[in-house]
Amino acid sequence: MGSGIAEVAAASGCEVIVRSRSQATADGMVAVLEKSLARQVEREKRTSEEAAAILSRVRGTGELEELTDCDLVIESVVEDLTVKKALFGELDRLVKRDAILATNTSTLPVVEMAMETSRPEQVCGIHFFNPAAVMRLVEVVVPITAAPATIEAVHGFVEACGKEAVEVQDRAGFVVNALLFPYLNSAIRLLEAQVATMEGIDRAMMGGCGFPMGPFALLDLVGLDTSLSILEALYAESADPSVAPATTLRRMVAAGRLGRKSGHGFYDYRH
Ligand SMILES: NC(=O)c1ccc[n+]([C@@H]2O[C@H](COP(=O)([O-])OP(=O)(O)OC[C@H]3O[C@@H](n4cnc5c(N)ncnc54)[C@H](O)[C@@H]3O)[C@@H](O)[C@H]2O)c1
Repeated sequence: MGSGIAEVAAASGCEVIVRSRSQATADGMVAVLEKSLARQVEREKRTSEEAAAILSRVRGTGELEELTDCDLVIESVVEDLTVKKALFGELDRLVKRDAILATNTSTLPVVEMAMETSRPEQVCGIHFFNPAAVMRLVEVVVPITAAPATIEAVHGFVEACGKEAVEVQDRAGFVVNALLFPYLNSAIRLLEAQVATMEGIDRAMMGGCGFPMGPFALLDLVGLDTSLSILEALYAESADPSVAPATTLRRMVAAGRLGRKSGHGFYDYRH
């Protein structure tokens, strides 16, 4: 998600720093962004001059200190509250006092990240969808600690990115994932109950509901580890048995079958 968000922000005219845990992985993220732009040029969605201008506004770094002068930082690391909270504490110490710190979390409580900082009124969620360059929606997540000026500024950023903002409260899953993940989890349970094959369930939901992809293709796109974390967060907050993660999903994550990003999930992408 990180490189997709960087692409969207750079395309809107922002100067973007992509920070990863090493220079090599940051360079890898910029390379992914470059590939995405090249594909758009190939499909005549952008000119090569536009792509070059976008790329020139992005640089990668392994150093958190380089974010000191940023006006807005969007965190998009692994969906793990402990990791995110520690990062917000570090960002708060390093990034200039008037900057906004945001998270791209899919489900985790934004207020807990905000309270790791000395500026909880300047922390909120900016939840992009996958792939960020293509999907129109951004959920603007409002924790009870956020100041109206923060949310107003974030709406301005989202609009400048050409996205449609929907403001949502800081509840597990917000709107989209609170509705989507019970469905995705139910699809895995239908497969476990052998109601139909995986391909059959995917074709049924595309043909019967007009969805652009079926639940298993979507789980593979989201990432099975991220999907498991989302379901765990939904279950932790609601204790609703319909979102208790399906056993098959747990076993696949344990086996390292994470979807497209690992080359193998419900479908096999290695050939
Ligand atoms: N995948 C989706 O469809 C999707 C959509 C919207 C939002 N999100 C959210 O975006 C965030 C990232 O998800 P993703 O799908 O890009 O995951 P990913 O696994 O592709 O990327 C996670 C990144 O976090 C890094 N990371 C792992 N542990 C870390 C640590 N301890 N400290 C710092 N960095 C660490 C990894 O190196 C990796 O670059 C999550 O919060 C997720 O919920 C994901």
